[in-house]
Amino acid sequence: MAGLFGRKKIEKREVDLNNLPQHIGFIMDGNGRWAKKRGLPRSAGHKAGAESLKKIITEANNMGVKYATVYAFSTENWSRPKEEVDYLMGLLMDYLVNAEKTLAGENVVIRAIGSRKELSEEMQRQIIKTENFTKNNTGIIMNIAVNYGGREELVNAARQIAEKVKNGEKNIEDITAEDIGNGLYTANQPDVDLLIRTSGEMRLSNFMLWQVSYAEMWFTDKLWPDFKPADLRKAIIDFQNRGRRFGGI
Ligand code: FPP
Repeated sequence: MAGLFGRKKIEKREVDLNNLPQHIGFIMDGNGRWAKKRGLPRSAGHKAGAESLKKIITEANNMGVKYATVYAFSTENWSRPKEEVDYLMGLLMDYLVNAEKTLAGENVVIRAIGSRKELSEEMQRQIIKTENFTKNNTGIIMNIAVNYGGREELVNAARQIAEKVKNGEKNIEDITAEDIGNGLYTANQPDVDLLIRTSGEMRLSNFMLWQVSYAEMWFTDKLWPDFKPADLRKAIIDFQNRGRRFGGI
């Protein structure tokens, strides 16, 4: 592609491991449609989606990506039929339990982000157990967004700041963007650089509203269970071929 002033922009065709996105967000969409296309129940799509997730995280970890956040269950997903909600929670539970055997062996740090108090006590206990079990791993940090909503996360951050103002620890004029960042579930983690959404939908759906401010968005028509490590590499190559300016020139 000819760049400005006739300069040739060289398009990369392979992942440059020295220029990886630090943090990738995944909106794993299309499990239901994947199942429907095959005449299977929606649960089969979610099961296939969970398998896809393992492969993608392994690939990202092997490449050297430092953070991944995956949207597993939103605050709005409770409105799905109880059977589907239960199935998704069951899959999450299996994932967390098996993480000790599989992903921990692959050096993945697992964390859950989202509001926990609405989850079953068993799930809350398992989250803590898996987080503790994997916390000293040195590979990719995988945030599993469960009962997560971006607006709820921002409301939470606002409450924490308001509390500080009320206690006299902070003046209103001194509130910064950093204070908001520190009140998020992802405090101390870099912003999302690359956001991937599958299944042809082009929406944020209340996912990491603050953290994606400067993210490159990458959409594909592929349904999440069909999303393969090669697709992840393609998304990263596209990311690396884009020029990020962060509002500069
Ligand atoms: C959206 O697709 C997907 C979800 C609401 C759930 C995502 C969950 C997984 C990929 C597997 C479980 C995750 C873990 C961490 C074990 P959809 O079902 O709404 O698809 P549709 O739009 O085609 O109906």
